[in-house]
Amino acid sequence: TRTPVNVTVTGAAGQIGYALLFRIASGHLLGSDVPVKLRLLEIPQGLKAAEGTAMELDDCAFPLLRGIEITDDPDVAFDGANVALLVGARPRTKGMERGDLLAANGGIFKPQGKAINDHAADDIKVLVVGNPANTNALIARSAAPDVPAERFTAMTRLDHNRAISQLAAKTGAAVSDIKRLTIWGNHSATQYPDIFHAEIAGKNAAETVNDETWLADTFIPTVAKRGAAIIEARGASSAASAANAAIDHVYTWVNGTAEGDWTSMGVVSDGSYGVAEGLISSFPVTTKGGAYEIVQGLEINDFSRTRIDASVKELADERDAVRELGLI
Ligand code: NAI
Repeated sequence: TRTPVNVTVTGAAGQIGYALLFRIASGHLLGSDVPVKLRLLEIPQGLKAAEGTAMELDDCAFPLLRGIEITDDPDVAFDGANVALLVGARPRTKGMERGDLLAANGGIFKPQGKAINDHAADDIKVLVVGNPANTNALIARSAAPDVPAERFTAMTRLDHNRAISQLAAKTGAAVSDIKRLTIWGNHSATQYPDIFHAEIAGKNAAETVNDETWLADTFIPTVAKRGAAIIEARGASSAASAANAAIDHVYTWVNGTAEGDWTSMGVVSDGSYGVAEGLISSFPVTTKGGAYEIVQGLEINDFSRTRIDASVKELADERDAVRELGLI
């Protein structure tokens, strides 16, 4: 029998946590033959609700779930962690300036990064979901100098999935026929969903669509502003789709991308495609054996270049702001 994998989830009592934990416990995060132990990290006010969720997890009698521990201490939560999903974050509230938002999140992600550095297992993989995800990942990474930088990733898989779905709807293709879509840059309104290298049933997607106006005025804004549209319709932010994307992100990282396809992940830049080294930016990546590589050699046209640069500039501004705040 396999040793259980320790999976730590922060913000476990939140709405994404509620949509996420049951799928982790049922084997969708790592595989249907991998037992898991859950560690739930919450702030003191969230502990009771997390206990309620744990009761429900017990009541599912999941064969793969080998234990649940609930704590408000990051040192305990990340002790021996193999996978960490950093979901809990400080949301932007009315009238909050960007500096205040980054400082508040620094207060969360810096100590969590340190706790990961000091206590996590050697093979730790981190996914940051809590916004601003890319910069929160940068803060956590900076606080964990002993952990290889590439283990800290930020989630743009929801954007990736949204873009695939929009493209499928536009072209009448099946979602499963769409490959090689890329989200570049920041998980924010400046993100750039790129279909120039994407394929629909083996044919180039941009050529198939052949409509740059739709691309610029409909597709890109629809994907980038989808979060706001969900809030408007549902009266609450995306939770099940965000949890699903977190599951997809880690599953793909651990189990590999399909031959001929890639995915989108916010990862530490090595300078590829002119993205300043060290920024955590979304790239096309292939994964294999628990490691990933940024896809190299794609030609970037002017349409794409402008948009990638704009999103990367936003990431650099956020990095400069957290540097000024002493968070990295
Ligand atoms: P929520 O407000 O329902 O839950 C957040 C939970 O985090 C709360 O239970 C809170 O008590 C907990 N928390 C706060 N600080 C914490 C800390 N220091 N340690 C542990 N737990 C802490 O929020 P929801 O809807 O679950 O969203 C969580 C985050 O995910 C938000 O920042 C949201 O913006 C982000 N998000 C990111 C997406 C992406 O594509 N990257 C997509 C959707 C949401």
